[in-house]
Parts: sequence; C-alpha cells; structure tokens
Amino acid sequence: MNMSHELRTPLHAILSFARLGLDKISAGRGDPSKLQHYLGRIDQSGERLLSLLNALLDLSKLESGGMAYEFAQHDLMEVMRPAVQEFAALASNAGVEVSLKDESGGHSRAWVDAGRIGQVVRNLLSNAIKFTSPGGQVCIALRETEGSADMQGRRVLQVRVTDSGIGIPAQELEAVFHKFVQSSATRSKAGGTGLGLAICREIVQAHGGRIWVESEPGRGSTFIAALPVSGTSSGTRAGARSEAVNIAE
Ligand SMILES: Nc1ncnc2c1ncn2[C@@H]1O[C@H](COP(=O)(O)OP(=O)(O)O)[C@@H](O)[C@H]1O
Ligand SMILES: [Mg+2]
Repeated sequence: MNMSHELRTPLHAILSFARLGLDKISAGRGDPSKLQHYLGRIDQSGERLLSLLNALLDLSKLESGGMAYEFAQHDLMEVMRPAVQEFAALASNAGVEVSLKDESGGHSRAWVDAGRIGQVVRNLLSNAIKFTSPGGQVCIALRETEGSADMQGRRVLQVRVTDSGIGIPAQELEAVFHKFVQSSATRSKAGGTGLGLAICREIVQAHGGRIWVESEPGRGSTFIAALPVSGTSSGTRAGARSEAVNIAE
C-alpha cells in the first residue's frame, strides 16, 4: 500500500495545471480552450482526491471503532432495491444487465445499520459493473442459509453479488480486501481507490458477519456478505464504543 503516492498524484496534477494556467495568463496567452483543458484536469483530479479522502476518513473511523452504527431491524431487500435502482443508469451505459433476486424465502429481515449495509451493497455493485464487459450480467441476490460454525449456528442472510466479468486469480482472492490492493487482472482498468472492499469488510465484521469472494478467472466473480440475522454482541459493542467517542468529542 502506498498512501502518500495515492494522495500526492492528484494533488500534483492540480497544482501543475493551476500553475500552467496562471503562467499562460501572465504571459498574455490565456487561450480559452487551453485554459478549459487545464481546468478540466484540475476538476477531475480534485474529484479523485475528494473521493480518496472520503474513503480514507471512513476507513480510519471504521478501523478505530469510531464509527457510530445505528442498528435496527431492516428488510434487506429494501436496502438492496434502492442501491440497484441508483446504478441502473451506470449499468445501462456500461451495457451490463443488473437483476435483483429474493431467495430469502420471505425471511429478509436482519439487525443491521441500513445505511452502512447500503454502502457495502453499492461498493459491490459498482465493482461488479466496473469489471464486467458490455453484454455481461450482474445479479444481486439475498439468500437465507444455515449459520456456519464460525457464526455459532445463527441464522444468516447472504447478500450475493455475482458478475460475468473478468474474475480474480485464485491467489488474490484474499488480497483484494486489503487497502489499496487491485488485482493483477484489472490493474489496467485502474482509477479506483482500492479502498472499497476494505471498507466493506470493516462494516460487515462490525455486524458479526463475514465477506469473501469466489471467482473463476475469465468467467466472473461472486462476492458474498454473510450477516447474522440477529446481529451480534461485537456489533453492539462497536455501537456502544462509538457512542462514547461521540460524547467525548
Ligand atoms: N467484481 C469484481 N471483478 C473483478 N475484480 C474485482 C471485482 N471487485 C473488485 N475487484 C478487484 O479488487 C480490487 C479492489 O476493489 P476495491 O477495494 O473496490 O477498489 P477499487 O474499486 O477502487 O479498485 C479492484 O481494483 C479489482 O482489482
Ligand atoms: Mg471499488
């Protein structure tokens, strides 16, 4: 991970294009189309820096236990649906078809922070669309499963985001959840922050859940966020800890 490089690159671009523009103007050569090009680059790099900073601030709050979670009973289908609708335009521009499936057998409620789980769903959808070629498919499904041993046999709801995209090499399935890591299959499609999945993992773990990916390189990937329906004592603790932080602030 190379955080200072990630932050400096867009900032350098902003400064150099600003100076270039200023120099042109002082030399009496403020050609509007040139200046427009410089301002466009400044705007683009500023946006990138802003999204990077927002992601970094989110992550540091999540990692320090300073995130204030608001747990309540929510229907996860109603958390997923607006996220899917939000991405409809992006998906259709990318030529990717997105579908939503309820495989929960009518048991779609869980003890979650709806805003944060919505953030997880949005991160997973944006990746699935980004790494799938035109003509491909993305499916997001909610599935009820038996709680596995590591979730103490509690009932579990899986949010499953499946794409028919580029896939992830077997030896990188764990690393993609680390900060700033991008898989070797997608490095050429860079432009993201490499923080989305690290943020997803922090949020899911604060719910007492688990997130992982299964993939067949070249055929597609399925990201699975497994959430215990009844919430978790560690989730409650995270909430209590962040409340204490907020009061102290
Ligand atoms: N659906 C996917 N298909 C293929 N690769 C993916 C997918 N989702 C994530 N990845 C890989 O994991 C990396 C990390 O994802 P993420 O943390 O969301 O960062 P970003 O989207 O900013 O690159 C991506 O750069 C990509 O290499
Ligand atoms: Mg991402």
